[in-house]
Amino acid sequence: MTRFEEELANEFGKAYCCFTGSGSTAIYLLLNAIDKRSQKVLFPATTCMAPINSAIYAGYEPIFCDVNLDDQTMNVDSLERMLDAYDVGVVVPIHLYGHVADIASITRVAKNKTADIFVLEDCAQYVRCGTADASILSFGHTKIFESGGGGGALLTNDETLYEKVTAEKNNLHTVRDYTEVKVRFENYRKKYYSIKNLPKEEQNQRLLSLQMESKDTFIYNLGEPLQILSILKNKKKIAERRNAKADLYRSHLKHPLISPSPVGKDDVCWRYSFLFLGNRDSFVEKVRKSGIDISTWYEAMYKFYSDQDDALFGNANLIERHVVNLWVDESKTKSEIRKDIDKLVSIAQESL
Ligand SMILES: Cc1ncc(COP(=O)(O)O)c(C=O)c1O
Repeated sequence: MTRFEEELANEFGKAYCCFTGSGSTAIYLLLNAIDKRSQKVLFPATTCMAPINSAIYAGYEPIFCDVNLDDQTMNVDSLERMLDAYDVGVVVPIHLYGHVADIASITRVAKNKTADIFVLEDCAQYVRCGTADASILSFGHTKIFESGGGGGALLTNDETLYEKVTAEKNNLHTVRDYTEVKVRFENYRKKYYSIKNLPKEEQNQRLLSLQMESKDTFIYNLGEPLQILSILKNKKKIAERRNAKADLYRSHLKHPLISPSPVGKDDVCWRYSFLFLGNRDSFVEKVRKSGIDISTWYEAMYKFYSDQDDALFGNANLIERHVVNLWVDESKTKSEIRKDIDKLVSIAQESL
């Protein structure tokens, strides 16, 4: 390990760290290193496309299980059903929006099914690593520990695994200047949003094709952005500031159509998410017109990547239709959030 990697390993309480160009790259390298391509890799249905794309780039076939309605992370009963139905080699629990997935129960259920199943924990939207076989982090755009210069990491206590991942890393192209990544990503973003403006029926296949042609945008090596270490020195403060903003929404953004997620004791808010129980799309359109940045991430991913039955994904589909999320990062001050809350409540009121 480099000195930087040793410090990261130390910060996150793991024996080994392999620094990577991005969180996507960390997932890609890990999946290459463990080589379980003859089996499926299982993700929660509610998440972003990045981790799933990494699995496909590494030659895996993804399948999905449903998520909990309250915290939107992997649902253990649905996981158990999918483990009975498919030959699964890797399970990827994801801490979504900063809600902590139940890694201990997920690992117990997975290993009871097959002892050598691999559990890879995705902490890209979170701040700590749990007890999985390996964990990935992201220091990329909008992440809790955004470095401004990108980066990701694979953390594990398994020395052999660390060595294999590091050997895989040598096969990747190294980006010399982070601007190159930004330019590629901007290009990808433009294509993504031009597809999102098409009629719904035309979107899925085109979005999937865009992901499959964008491997170089997401998978690469990078020099170490040393500023990550000073950002991590402030991790407690960063977490407290985000949670204080989430608490503001939780205490004041109250309306019969707004159903907030309960907070777990270890959660650190990445985005403040809630379900809007009325017509979500018309609510979001009005909120955007009022000048507030709001997103409807995430869609149910099984629709893009697998032919699994809709009936298996009741919660992910409900979340897809109703989820809304708001910013709690440094781009928003508490007083701006208070003003936004007043506007949000009055727009919700119009929807009754
Ligand atoms: C849940 C999750 N996993 C993985 C990633 C990939 O991280 P990166 O953007 O560093 O490739 C992201 C970010 O897009 C993410 O949100």
